[in-house]
Amino acid sequence: MAPFLGQEGAPRSAAGPALIVGATGYIGRFVAEACLDSGRRTFILVRPGNACPARAASVDELRKKGAVLVEGRVDGKDGKRSVETALRAHGIEVVISVMGGANILDQLGLIDAIQAAGTVKRFLPSEFGHDVDRAQPVGAGVEFYDDKRRVRRAAEAAGVPYTYICCNSIAGWPYFDNMHPSEVPPPLDRFQIYGDGTVRAFFVAGSDIGKFTVKAAYDPRSINKIVHFRPACNLLSTNEMASLWEAKIGRTLPRVTLSKEDLIAMAAENIIPESIVASLTHDIFINGCQTNFFIDGSKDIDISSLYPDTPFRTIDECFDEYVNGLDLEEDQDDKQNKKKSNTPMVEILAVHPTCA
Ligand SMILES: NC(=O)c1ccc[n+]([C@@H]2O[C@H](COP(=O)([O-])OP(=O)(O)OC[C@H]3O[C@@H](n4cnc5c(N)ncnc54)[C@H](OP(=O)(O)O)[C@@H]3O)[C@@H](O)[C@H]2O)c1
Repeated sequence: MAPFLGQEGAPRSAAGPALIVGATGYIGRFVAEACLDSGRRTFILVRPGNACPARAASVDELRKKGAVLVEGRVDGKDGKRSVETALRAHGIEVVISVMGGANILDQLGLIDAIQAAGTVKRFLPSEFGHDVDRAQPVGAGVEFYDDKRRVRRAAEAAGVPYTYICCNSIAGWPYFDNMHPSEVPPPLDRFQIYGDGTVRAFFVAGSDIGKFTVKAAYDPRSINKIVHFRPACNLLSTNEMASLWEAKIGRTLPRVTLSKEDLIAMAAENIIPESIVASLTHDIFINGCQTNFFIDGSKDIDISSLYPDTPFRTIDECFDEYVNGLDLEEDQDDKQNKKKSNTPMVEILAVHPTCA
């Protein structure tokens, strides 16, 4: 009998320990924390030899919360073998990969290790965005999605029970050139509105991405399904997001249009990762890729149908948190000074620093 199947030939449901691959990353930290909060025994695979202080602090924090560290990496022959050994030694039943954009194909080694170990009852590859088999981005996003599709096909061919998490956009202002938008507050000088600003997207708080991912990972109803996060309370266009933010900060801001053509041009420049973000921004706010399809009952599930009584954090609450962390008076003084000195107002966007 195949290692992933139970007595009746159906995939076995998982209840045992989880291994998070990519727990030090932007989305990975939410997933690892949620796994620990759920009370599951949580292992984190950490690559050796990266001395970045921010990363070391993340590892330390997770360890203090109870995570068990496994040193290793999923790429290369030795990497694969060491992960296989770790999976077996710790009886890992759930593997959640939250590996970053440039390393998506490293997951092929992870799938080999899972297949060889035979302990894993559920694999969640690094998706955490859109349904890559449906979406059709242009420019730099094409290769990125091709890699994610390749990982899906490899998981399916390996016969390991999988769950694909399509959580849509992380809650925050959807900057067109910042892959980690929730780490920066929404703008205080001007909004960049994509196209006519009316196309809507689903915004999900990082903590909810983590919480619902872990629930789905252990839920037999999500075996071999694509799980979509579509909280009705957080379906907003950029125009609506801008108005909500203006209400929070008590002032209106100028709106600058970034056209479909602007975004396509940036996506074509192939500056990584910014062009990937521009490509996905185009797909979301011009093509409407998060809302332009219906969920198919046989392969897809809406997470809210699994947990109708578990609320999502609203974008309104997320914006409250941003506004509480700002010194708006100081920012106003700053603007006055800039006006006096005739300095052009330039929006500085943080692109998340990587430790690699
Ligand atoms: N929905 C959204 O709005 C949204 C936003 C951002 C990202 N995402 C998606 O979320 C996923 C994760 O992206 P991210 O931005 O969170 O990634 P990230 O911050 O770049 O973190 C990547 C993680 O993977 C680890 N890693 C990379 N290669 C590895 C290897 N060979 N072996 C072991 N560990 C390895 C890194 O470890 P080190 O610490 O050693 O580098 C790090 O912990 C991606 O699929 C991305 O597309 C979604």
